[in-house]
Amino acid sequence: MSELIENRRSIRKFKADKPVTKEQINSLLKAAMLAPSACNTRPWEFIAITKRETLDEIVRIHPYAGMCKTASAAVIVVAIPQEKDLPQGYFPQDCGAATENILLEAVSLGLGACWCGIYPKEERIAPFRESFNIHEPRIPFCVIAIGVPDEAPESRGFFEEAKITYIE
Ligand SMILES: Cc1cc2nc3c(=O)[nH]c(=O)nc-3n(C[C@H](O)[C@H](O)[C@H](O)COP(=O)(O)O)c2cc1C
Repeated sequence: MSELIENRRSIRKFKADKPVTKEQINSLLKAAMLAPSACNTRPWEFIAITKRETLDEIVRIHPYAGMCKTASAAVIVVAIPQEKDLPQGYFPQDCGAATENILLEAVSLGLGACWCGIYPKEERIAPFRESFNIHEPRIPFCVIAIGVPDEAPESRGFFEEAKITYIE
């Protein structure tokens, strides 16, 4: 697992002629649905896209998802916020955990991925609602571009001991 974490990068250039199979997409979504969530509310749904015109539509409506031009697939994580009873307000954390599981499973399948944020930017939420028929109370949370990597960027993450308070 630590190798997967170390090897994960945001990939923004993909081999456009290499498809992502439905089996691979289902492995990614299985990983997503194994994520922890507050009180096991699992406040998520997923839109799995491999259609070229729809991937191009994402490039059009998201200002920083240009990598979908070469991606062979994308997953939109759709949040379903808890409206009544506890626990309310945890859906960004729950959907974030599901998203990270997709990114790590992608590495394990030899794929690359890039998390592109939608929520909480209203100017990004609105066009995704319209293009993908996502109605209240559902919220488009993020879109993940997926494909076979055509770049190998350097790691941008690093260990910073100064960020840790040890209580021993
Ligand atoms: C909440 C969130 C939103 C992000 N949105 C975008 C985005 O819109 N476009 C993009 O190219 N990368 C996006 N990223 C990827 C970050 O830029 C990337 O994770 C960061 O630069 C570290 O690089 P690494 O993922 O390769 O470690 C996003 C990441 C997160 C966690």
